[in-house]
Amino acid sequence: MQIFHPTVAFLIMFVLCSQPTSAVIVRYPREPVTQTEGLSLSLKCTVEYRKKDCDIEAKWWYTNSYELLPIMDPNTYLITVNETELETKKLRLRNIFLTISSLKLQDSGLYQCDAKCLDSGTQAKGHLVAVNITADPYKGLKVSTWSGQLKADAAALAFSTILLLLRCY
Ligand SMILES: *[C@@H]1O[C@H](CO)[C@@H](O)[C@H](O)[C@H]1NC(C)=O
Ligand SMILES: *[C@@H]1O[C@H](CO)[C@@H](O)[C@H](O)[C@H]1NC(C)=O
Repeated sequence: MQIFHPTVAFLIMFVLCSQPTSAVIVRYPREPVTQTEGLSLSLKCTVEYRKKDCDIEAKWWYTNSYELLPIMDPNTYLITVNETELETKKLRLRNIFLTISSLKLQDSGLYQCDAKCLDSGTQAKGHLVAVNITADPYKGLKVSTWSGQLKADAAALAFSTILLLLRCY
């Protein structure tokens, strides 16, 4: 029996090519992100999914390279979501923005966004994005200007006290 009859080959091709695209896809830029501590940072994850097959749950994760932790703490992270529908393709696009309003050096690490179809369990994961939080070069200066101001105030106070004492005697 001839297994690779042209018709069989054609059928296999047809089946492979008519496979629907994945029910859920996660997209966002791969480039590492660098930001200075104290500033804010927003990462965007776009999940493309077929509404017909899939109701999704999407999450951002953080890893300090020991473990992958889901990002949830509302005191540190702001998660905002919006969604559009591409009517022609019967697809929905959901953006999940992860915002950290005042970066700390410890926010450096790898971030990842993933999405899951709630009913079928089909999953899609984005790649790890490296986030590098650099020290604020002016942080020390701000502190010294402030303490310099305090010293100046203290000196002015001492000076006026001396004047006051001189006037009294
Ligand atoms: C989703 O939110 C982002 C940021 O606020 C905005 O730039 C974008 O236009 C919004 N998209 C939709 C479809 O509302
Ligand atoms: C973070 O960025 C700084 C400044 O651009 C660079 O010197 C440092 O090597 C980067 N660290 C990592 C882990 O990429």
